[in-house]
Amino acid sequence: MKNRFELQEMKQKGDKITMVTAYDYPSAKLVEQASVDTILVGDSLGMVVLGYDSTIQVTVDDMIHHAKAVKRGAPNTFTVVDMPFMSYHISLENALENAMKIFQQSGANALKVEGASREILTLTERLTDAGIPVVAHLGLTPQSVNVLGGYKVQGKNKEAAEKLLTDSKRLEQSGAIALVLECIPKELAEIITASLEIPTIGIGAGADCDGQVLVYHDLLLYGVERLPKFVKAYGHANDGFLQSLESFVKEVKRKEFPGVEHTYTMNSDVLAELKQ
Ligand code: KIV
Ligand code: NA
Repeated sequence: MKNRFELQEMKQKGDKITMVTAYDYPSAKLVEQASVDTILVGDSLGMVVLGYDSTIQVTVDDMIHHAKAVKRGAPNTFTVVDMPFMSYHISLENALENAMKIFQQSGANALKVEGASREILTLTERLTDAGIPVVAHLGLTPQSVNVLGGYKVQGKNKEAAEKLLTDSKRLEQSGAIALVLECIPKELAEIITASLEIPTIGIGAGADCDGQVLVYHDLLLYGVERLPKFVKAYGHANDGFLQSLESFVKEVKRKEFPGVEHTYTMNSDVLAELKQ
């Protein structure tokens, strides 16, 4: 398993870091088998596998439930788990308790929090102090979608771009081990990446980040229908899965399934006795 220092070394060497968001045992197994460097158990699971319309309904227990399954599937892959909506905003004590619960119970290797407010910087310091590595997340931070006014590109004007740069440095100073940059112009991501020692992992942030993260279901086109501009579909699971399911329905209706090869039979003597 890669550790935070190896991830930082990858940045120094220009060796790109891969991260895939996974939510369960079979996906985590495949991700580990594919030698993906890091896994994110993202709170995007609320939308992608629970069918909510945002990440806001996701709970601490949801995150633990999914993260445990992921760790069972990928025990040897560095796994970051999202702290969900409002689990780190009520008070520092409450945030530390929730973080401890997620970290202890899920087997996470790091936790991720969104934003760079004074409270988040303090939380990042306190968690780092306590031995819980923190991954930061800036740009489009989906837990604040209602404040941001929708899912749109962030940091386009000078003030917003400067704020993102300053926030990035503050998060690094507070102890963050990596920074996810979501939906910002590539030029800004390049500037931020060059100004930090810690690796940046981009999604919709261009090719100059130190790494790239995509959601498993997006990159396989599995369950999702509409993809944002920044996602590339490397597979077409929906098509293949739908065809397979339709074939099953058809074969059962036509009495073609199950065939002899899928069927158990009884010893003929026993059968004869049974029928007497
Ligand atoms: O929840 C998630 O999947 C994420 C990534 C998109 C960075 O936070
Ligand atoms: Na997330």
